[in-house]
Amino acid sequence: MTREEFKKVVLQGIPNELPSPKTYDTEINHAPKRKEILTVKEKKLALKNALRYFEPKHHEVLAKEFAEELEKYGRIYMYRFRPDYDISARSIDDFPGKSRQAQAIMVMLSNNLDYAVAQHPHELITYGGNGAVFQNWAQYLLTMQYLAEMTDEQTLVLYSGHPMGIFPSHKDAPRVVVTNGMMIPNYSKPDDWEKFNALGVTQYGQMTAGSFMYIGPQGIVHGTTITLLNASRKIAKEGEGSEGKIFITSGLGGMSGAQPKAGNIAGVVSITAEINPKAAYKRHEQGWVDEVIEDVDKVIDTALEYSEKKEAHSIAFLGNIVDLWERVVERDVFIHLGSDQTSLHNPWAGGYYPAGLGYEESNKMMVENPDEFKKYVQESLKRQIAAINKLSDKGMYFFDYGNAFLLESSRAGADVMSDEGGFRYPSYVQDIMGPMCFDYGFGPFRWVCTSSKPEDLDLTDQIAMDVLEEIAKTAPVEISQQMRDNIRWISEAKKNKLVVGSQARILYADCEGRTKIAAEFNKAVNDGRLSAPVVLGRDHHDVSGTDSPFRETSNIYDGSQFTADMAIQNVIGDSFRGATWVSIHNGGGVGWGEVINGGFGMVLDGSEDTDRRLRMMLHWDVNNGIARRSWARNDGAVFAVKREMERTPDLKVTVPNIADDKLIDKLF
Ligand SMILES: NC(=O)c1ccc[n+]([C@@H]2O[C@H](COP(=O)([O-])OP(=O)(O)OC[C@H]3O[C@@H](n4cnc5c(N)ncnc54)[C@H](O)[C@@H]3O)[C@@H](O)[C@H]2O)c1
Repeated sequence: MTREEFKKVVLQGIPNELPSPKTYDTEINHAPKRKEILTVKEKKLALKNALRYFEPKHHEVLAKEFAEELEKYGRIYMYRFRPDYDISARSIDDFPGKSRQAQAIMVMLSNNLDYAVAQHPHELITYGGNGAVFQNWAQYLLTMQYLAEMTDEQTLVLYSGHPMGIFPSHKDAPRVVVTNGMMIPNYSKPDDWEKFNALGVTQYGQMTAGSFMYIGPQGIVHGTTITLLNASRKIAKEGEGSEGKIFITSGLGGMSGAQPKAGNIAGVVSITAEINPKAAYKRHEQGWVDEVIEDVDKVIDTALEYSEKKEAHSIAFLGNIVDLWERVVERDVFIHLGSDQTSLHNPWAGGYYPAGLGYEESNKMMVENPDEFKKYVQESLKRQIAAINKLSDKGMYFFDYGNAFLLESSRAGADVMSDEGGFRYPSYVQDIMGPMCFDYGFGPFRWVCTSSKPEDLDLTDQIAMDVLEEIAKTAPVEISQQMRDNIRWISEAKKNKLVVGSQARILYADCEGRTKIAAEFNKAVNDGRLSAPVVLGRDHHDVSGTDSPFRETSNIYDGSQFTADMAIQNVIGDSFRGATWVSIHNGGGVGWGEVINGGFGMVLDGSEDTDRRLRMMLHWDVNNGIARRSWARNDGAVFAVKREMERTPDLKVTVPNIADDKLIDKLF
């Protein structure tokens, strides 16, 4: 298809004539059948809802087809309307448009649905088993059409994937405002998602899926590398590095697939269990894991061999993580680091495969006998924790990886609570990311070159490294380790071949780093060194964007970890300070109803307006969270906010006074 033909198809939106039906492609990784949850009356409503996108002349054919989809898959995806062209992050100039900003958003959105990137592309799921970009293909087609038609004086409004329309606004306003899964709080239980998603009125947007900011597993590699380096430092003896340390974990899916790669970069020997052969071999083919082994003893022997040689190596164990943990205990092997990254934010619908059941057997049971399946999951979690407890008693450092593992294990009745009533193990945010990164404003800053040219990405790497090296010269000692780790990361980024999909880079940076890097990129777009605009953004898993009591805000101890003011303030503040798009979601990462998270995207087009916007918006986007973390009495954040006030005369943040515990203890 030529560029012009592609543009024509995009501009057409939902076609007037029905495209021919699509055959169900068994080669592709599909979402599991969703739970049977709708009553007959509700099924009729779901159908009626779906047909709203189409002219009545097509209703007879489509009603029957959609009813079948609903019965067969538990959702109406409208497979027939899946486009015939390849969806990928083409160059910005390939997309039709009247607004450069909207075209850049099309690059990002398309990347989220790229077959090489997305977990279940035909069901419009990018990662995490249920992280949707759209609920159905009609929404995709219509959104692309709106983006292609709109100007810089309009804003597209997306309600959980549904394009409500393009509304008049102004040049400085966001081009797109996204909300995903926003519910009346009492309707935010997992079954509410099943029901209202099946009805076609809401979706689970995860974090970067429904906000068009997913950049493949690279997005998480950097954070995972930082986590592993610091986890190793926690148990390292004086002068010891991470070499030779064995790390056991699970999951080779969308996000979790980053673990072996990060393990290699951090220098450890990693074993990642993965039950789904398609997922394991996909990561192996992409070069993200060194080898796939099915035999559990061979897995352990290989790991010991590399540990002995102190050589970094990554092994995918094709099997159940519980079987691996239990075998390690039986053989009494010492493991240094442990975690888990199965999708326990979604435990009953394919996020976690229990021990004792085969992969296909689980897929069947979760639909046909969900109560029985739940029992299997809970039993399996109990066994998993029992094995982990034994290894941690011998000195393994175990941490929760933000996937609700400890939460679901505790709900299953596993022996995972400490005497003080909390969890026996820390989350990686409590111990590592929170105090070392978020409290100082370091977070998963990222960018995408919309030219889709690798040479543009190379130049951005170089610019970013120059900026960080300059900042590092005067950085205070409190953040010098972070600066060193980040400079090392960016200097090795190209060598580590991290790009899957769009020409993207992630680089943990603080407010100063993000702003200076962004301003330099904008200059390079202006003077033509970069051939097309750069999109700036971040993961929601950051300083300010996410309120999530068991993950991003798990190192907040003033009781406010169960509030969501920070995330809401963040998205509102970003939107009027110049973000090109903003999004706010219910339920990313740890589960529906468990978190509110928000993000932004900003198109750096080289203009002066953009220079003004990026300085204003990035400053707020980072310092909102630092201020809140400081108010929660986190030392690093108090330090960071005071430092920021010295740098920014217009900033005045309320700083906490610290009461003496002895004074308080006397009173109660
Ligand atoms: N730590 C972080 O920074 C971070 C970031 C994003 C997501 N997460 C969380 O991590 C989890 C995983 O995310 P993802 O995108 O990789 O999800 P995913 O669903 O794509 O991958 C999870 C993988 O685990 C496998 N699996 C499930 N049960 C298993 C078992 N018992 N044994 C072996 N393999 C098993 C699945 O087959 C799947 O491939 C999610 O809950 C997500 O919210 C954490």
